[in-house]
Amino acid sequence: MIPSVLPTYNRAPLQFVKGEGAWLIEADGRRFLDLGAGIAVNALGHAHPALVEALTSQAQNLWHVSNLYQIPQQQALADKLVETTFADTVFFTNSGTESCELAVKMARKYFYDKGQPDRVEIITFEGSFHGRSSAGIAAAGSEKMTKGFGPLLPGFVHLPWNDHDAVAAAISDKTAAILIEPVQGEGGIRPLPDTCMKGLRDLCDEHGILLILDEVQCGVGRTGKLFAHEWAGITPDIMMVAKGIGGGFPLGAVLATEDAASGMTAGTHGSTYGGNPLGCAVGCAVMDAVADPEFLAEVNRKAGLLRQKLEGLVASHPEVFEEVRGSGLMLGLKCKAVNIDVVNAGYDNEVVTVPAADNVIRLLPPLNLTDEDIAEALQRLEKAAKQVAAA
Ligand SMILES: Cc1ncc(COP(=O)(O)O)c(C=O)c1O
Repeated sequence: MIPSVLPTYNRAPLQFVKGEGAWLIEADGRRFLDLGAGIAVNALGHAHPALVEALTSQAQNLWHVSNLYQIPQQQALADKLVETTFADTVFFTNSGTESCELAVKMARKYFYDKGQPDRVEIITFEGSFHGRSSAGIAAAGSEKMTKGFGPLLPGFVHLPWNDHDAVAAAISDKTAAILIEPVQGEGGIRPLPDTCMKGLRDLCDEHGILLILDEVQCGVGRTGKLFAHEWAGITPDIMMVAKGIGGGFPLGAVLATEDAASGMTAGTHGSTYGGNPLGCAVGCAVMDAVADPEFLAEVNRKAGLLRQKLEGLVASHPEVFEEVRGSGLMLGLKCKAVNIDVVNAGYDNEVVTVPAADNVIRLLPPLNLTDEDIAEALQRLEKAAKQVAAA
């Protein structure tokens, strides 16, 4: 008999009932160190006082009104994002997938309105993940995500990861945009080198096409800059955001330049819940914390510390691990052992990590984890590695 919850997930036999900072408490009382943060969502850990305050005080006043009306919390969050990024304008969604939908629509509408309605193609890359909607799976294009769900949304051109010549050759008079994650998350924590990111920006400028960055997983302080593309010193035309921006409350956004957004006039897009007062009140509190240069400096310091310790772990367990990769607190351990076995051994030792493609385990801890948390994480990962090696 089918379970009452549609069985689309392979769930671990863990039931967390409470969270405190970087810690999760299981129903049986065990305390797990959370290096997954709900897949890069709980940017400020669990039950952060500023987020609890923002949510509860908003909840006592007003939950929902609809985008038929002015929403001051939405305006405040849009202003913060415009002030701190390349963007001139922001649309709020509830998830990364919805951000992908709008990014694709925005790029196509841009060229339609410019009198180039045939420019509909979007170049995407092997190993990418942009969500599970029809546009998201068509954008990623992998058989794993698309099989059985045809007919697929047309207009996506899939290229190998990190192959500049292939991109240059694929751009045609049908190309509207290049869509890429600056650091692939689901694909196995694969950072795009800065030179390649600059190369993509140059190609877009040369051909007058749009650069869309998917910073759903790598954005909001995760790599040690507010947004990952800042490391390459470039700016996109359109950027997808979600996960960390809500700190655990469902919230996403599409950020764009005035030019890229020019086709999105009244009536061209909308969302019932997108930008609701609860989500935006929390988003403002997240931005107040994460956009602070001192906070980001701490993310970078802790990332350096964690990475150094992880290099030691990999060196002392060459039979389990191959390498450390990633950027900031978006780290991956490429495994020699089966990655799921390492994740499961982590559960046995009360540390949470997240599997990814390419036999990688992801470490995406809360950005405000402490030095003590890092020391504890290493002890637990060490025990997990020994367990896997002994098996
Ligand atoms: C890079 C990227 N884009 C898009 C998505 C989809 O986001 P959501 O699951 O919030 O719809 C994800 C989710 O993992 C992601 O990592």
